[in-house]
Amino acid sequence: MALERTFSIIKPDATRRNLTGAINAKFEEAGLRIVAQKRIHLTKAQAGEFYAVHAERPFYDELCEFMASAPIVCQVLEGEGAIAKNREVMGATNPADAAPGTIRAEFAESVGENSVHGSDAPETAAVEIAYFFSGLELVG
Ligand code: PPS
Repeated sequence: MALERTFSIIKPDATRRNLTGAINAKFEEAGLRIVAQKRIHLTKAQAGEFYAVHAERPFYDELCEFMASAPIVCQVLEGEGAIAKNREVMGATNPADAAPGTIRAEFAESVGENSVHGSDAPETAAVEIAYFFSGLELVG
């Protein structure tokens, strides 16, 4: 499998509970390398731009409000098949459906406040990485 990069967010519910280190340990144990990381506090408008693809969904306003409610940690994770591996480590969107041992099974509070975001495909990973990081900030 090819070396790949994916984009990850540790969400406000997790930064509020000081879970950044515990979540990063899960990524590293799975063989993912954190090649870029920064803590930022989005405005609601910035969150809305990032999640524009969901603009028509009923939870959009709530999602943007939540993502702007506290700092987030944006990351680029690198590894063999990093996109699929990251989604496996995160677990299902709804923590009630997430496999035991996954980040969402252990830490997520609800389908909205679910601790982490991860890119779902190479195209979205490229767009999401470029949205938050410059090439100079990616240190493999
Ligand atoms: S998926 O697998 O990413 O396509 O999941 P999806 O169900 O389409 O959800 C997309 C993102 O929206 C969030 N979400 C919600 N937020 C608030 N309230 C409700 N009810 C809700 N349902 C889904 C979900 O956490 C996904 O966020 P990201 O950051 O993309 O993981």
